[in-house]
Amino acid sequence: SATPTSYFYTDKSEAECKIIPRKKFSHKGTFGHGLILAGSHGKMGAAILSGRACLRSGIGLLSMHIPGCGYEIMQISIPEAMVTVDPDHKHLSKLPQIESYSAIGIGPGVGKEKVTVQLLATLLKQIKTRLLIDADALNILSENPYLLDHLPEKTVLTPHPKEFQRLAGESKNEYERLELARDFAKKHKVIICLKGANTAVVLSNGDVHFNSTGNAGMATGGTGDVLTGIITSLLAQGYEPEDAAILGVYQHGLAGDKASEIKGQSAMIASDVIDKLGW
Ligand code: APR
Ligand code: MG
Repeated sequence: SATPTSYFYTDKSEAECKIIPRKKFSHKGTFGHGLILAGSHGKMGAAILSGRACLRSGIGLLSMHIPGCGYEIMQISIPEAMVTVDPDHKHLSKLPQIESYSAIGIGPGVGKEKVTVQLLATLLKQIKTRLLIDADALNILSENPYLLDHLPEKTVLTPHPKEFQRLAGESKNEYERLELARDFAKKHKVIICLKGANTAVVLSNGDVHFNSTGNAGMATGGTGDVLTGIITSLLAQGYEPEDAAILGVYQHGLAGDKASEIKGQSAMIASDVIDKLGW
């Protein structure tokens, strides 16, 4: 299938022209209500990072669905977020009501328990809004490939190289990996953010947008969870999934660059990236 590919490079001007300015007479309802499903026993930090990043990226309202053990942790660390508590103490097991949300993100720190596989399957059946899938929720897809047929059109997937390999198979080099991602994105009509240095955002028509921001200081646990929050926020605000992915990846890298200017690449951690979102 030798269709010509278009390659793009997301620099400052490409990214900034995608930003939708906030109108003076807007209210929190204007900017959407997002739901993030994240966390498990020992991995509540992933939920916190994604939630904080989501709130710092312009969303109107944020709800988090978390396992029972995370209730106090969540309420104390993110007072701006509303929380729905899963009946399971350690893992996500039961999908909450999802009708009222304008976008949903799932994955950071969720693990791969059977009950969580069931939750994801139910979510894919019921969802009618924009969706982002990350981390162990991607690994669940890899281990239950029948679920791939239920992905809503233009779902945003944010795999790191290992997660992508589990999802789409081995590749000999980076060019082959990109071709695999293009085939996968076209076949399943999804958007794939292939994370790494110069993250490649692969659209469902096969176009590839390489990101210009970011640095090796971001190779530290939790920065991926931050990206999940940012893109879920943009989706909830009504950005088209293509723009949400391209702009979100750019803003994530830009915040990482600002954090590295202050802390240096070795000392910076994921929370520093969140602190540098915005101007
Ligand atoms: N240059 C620029 N950006 C980078 C670089 C680099 N050299 N290295 C990493 N990044 C960025 C990636 O583009 C991505 O946005 O940092 C982020 C890292 O994301 P993940 O690899 O998903 O890492 P994270 O999620 O924080 O790791 C915690 O979650 O997904 C699981 O298996 C993962 O155990 C891991 C855990
Ligand atoms: Mg990750």
